[in-house]
Amino acid sequence: LPNKSKLPVIWIETNDSGDNNIAFMNTTYPYLDQVFAEMIDLLYSNTFMAAQGSDALSILEQASLMYKSKFVLVVEGAVPVKDNGLYNIIAITEKGAITALEAIRQLEAAAGHVVAIGTCASFGGPSAARPNLTGSAGVRDVLKREIINVSGCPVNPDWFVGTLAHLLMYGRPELDSLGRPVLFYGFTVHRHCQRRSYFDRDDFASKPGDIECMFSLGCMGPRTGADCPYRQWINHVNWPVKANTPCIGCTNEDFPDGSTPFFTT
Ligand code: SF4
Ligand code: F3S
Repeated sequence: LPNKSKLPVIWIETNDSGDNNIAFMNTTYPYLDQVFAEMIDLLYSNTFMAAQGSDALSILEQASLMYKSKFVLVVEGAVPVKDNGLYNIIAITEKGAITALEAIRQLEAAAGHVVAIGTCASFGGPSAARPNLTGSAGVRDVLKREIINVSGCPVNPDWFVGTLAHLLMYGRPELDSLGRPVLFYGFTVHRHCQRRSYFDRDDFASKPGDIECMFSLGCMGPRTGADCPYRQWINHVNWPVKANTPCIGCTNEDFPDGSTPFFTT
């Protein structure tokens, strides 16, 4: 029976590296067991669930009917559209293969919200990078409804779990022009960067490893929305600039093609 105190979630993983579900499993505030115990009912996931084959597919069909208009459809990875989506198959049935493209389109109308986790699902990301042999695209280019984009390569677990928590407790969060929650992406990395005082004094690094501002090395912080400087990563202890590497703009809609080469010297 529906558990009304938790958010029902159907999670389809398509073309990505699996980095976003690994990031999700590294959530620390709250921890993963708390997420499952108190926040979400993970009804179907072709990554996390034990069921396989027709059993898994039957769960997907039943869950989408039982939780119609209530479940959150989480899509991880870009959706390959070339050759009718042939490059990502989530199930083989007696009637033939079910592609991720087909599954997501079938679930579109029944979902209460659609959340794209990671930059591939949001905007195409590395899966859609040149030469994009599979014709991969972000969910926004495949479905006709509003998508909540939680971009990042990978996503910061706080951004994703925080978005789910917002949906559970307050409904849809305020979104920016790219469909991302403003509370996580509202300011540029550059705005709160710990090397900002160097930038303001035109004091730039001449090579990787220097302590000054890395704008001279191609840092994308000034045009990248994310709260990395104060939220940080890996249990909230470090982030790219603190680890002495430029921001490569992993939350941007043109990542990675618009960010390469990652270093300029
Ligand atoms: Fe801005 Fe990057 Fe320089 Fe930090 S290192 S101040 S984000 S340009
Ligand atoms: Fe990504 Fe830049 Fe943050 S590369 S992790 S948005 S500092």
